[in-house]
Amino acid sequence: MFKDLLTWYDNNRRILPWREDPAPYHVWLSEIMLQQTRVEAVRSYYARFLETLPDIASLAAADEDTYLKLWEGLGYYSRVRNLHKAAVQIMNDYDGRMPETSAELKKLSGIGPYTAAAIASIAFGERIPAVDGNLLRIFARLTCYGQDIKAPAAKKAAEAFYLEHFPETRAGDCNQALMDLGATVCVPNGAPLCGECPWSDLCQAHREGSELDFPYAAPKKDRRIEDRTVFLIYYDRRLVLGRRPSKGLLAGLYEFPNALGRLSRSEALDYLSGLGFSAVRITELPKAKHTFSHIEWHMTGYEVLADEWKGFPEAAAGAEASDHQPEGQNLFLATREEMQHLYSIPSAFAAYRREIRFR
Ligand code: ADE
Repeated sequence: MFKDLLTWYDNNRRILPWREDPAPYHVWLSEIMLQQTRVEAVRSYYARFLETLPDIASLAAADEDTYLKLWEGLGYYSRVRNLHKAAVQIMNDYDGRMPETSAELKKLSGIGPYTAAAIASIAFGERIPAVDGNLLRIFARLTCYGQDIKAPAAKKAAEAFYLEHFPETRAGDCNQALMDLGATVCVPNGAPLCGECPWSDLCQAHREGSELDFPYAAPKKDRRIEDRTVFLIYYDRRLVLGRRPSKGLLAGLYEFPNALGRLSRSEALDYLSGLGFSAVRITELPKAKHTFSHIEWHMTGYEVLADEWKGFPEAAAGAEASDHQPEGQNLFLATREEMQHLYSIPSAFAAYRREIRFR
């Protein structure tokens, strides 16, 4: 499949200065400049930088004012500081020669997995995909990859896919062909130009007409995580239930008594005594999670056998456990039959509903 892509690249590749002379230093400099900056904006900076600092030795010897001035307007100045730092590292630790493998390149300041793969493949021919947004998008469309494209698993899946299909040679061209295909054909915003794509025949999304469904990005989570402790309290052969407030989450529904926070056993006993119960036995229940649209409950639970109930709310007034006030304060007792036929407990509590054991 890469044969077709490389032919397309040979005929359609963008003419870019660092491609004309892909010396390691050139490739490195271009990749760092391109990290947060568009290709067109990089061109003139790239040329000017090389006129003043034509090789790794001159960059390592340059003073801060010189390289900062050359970067002025590109932004993200830590990029050029790291570039300089890495040049010094290369002079000191690598005899002035750029390391040739992605593994070694990653040890240099400012070079992460993507940049290491790009330099190693383009400048040294290492057979390694340089997975950026373009490669992810193309992979997702080619294979109808339906998982979240922002998750680390997507990057791993794309790497494995490309590694399996990369030919033995021209890895740098394969990566750059994919970058160009992503920038000019399999574009991110709006419809891709599938009529011009050398891979349209083998693209699963194109075959299904679902190009715009990929890549899939999971909606941003802005959920608050709330720890809760849920109680199954048995008293007088009945189970204690509460009713939630008439407004807000699960409004007006029945619930097991529960408290904000992840209560330790002794905090749980304090809470129970605040509700007027004295516990004769308390056993931890499994942890559980429930996701609402804006909140995620991370729950722990206790099964409690109580031999006394002073009633509520009187007992709770002035009780020490006031930070853990239950939200629905009107507690009452439900028999086994009532639990089976009368009261429905919302599925947020399903994990604890399953733990109900009348004795
Ligand atoms: N973006 C990052 N590196 C690139 C490269 N070598 N060619 C085209 N676009 C790029």
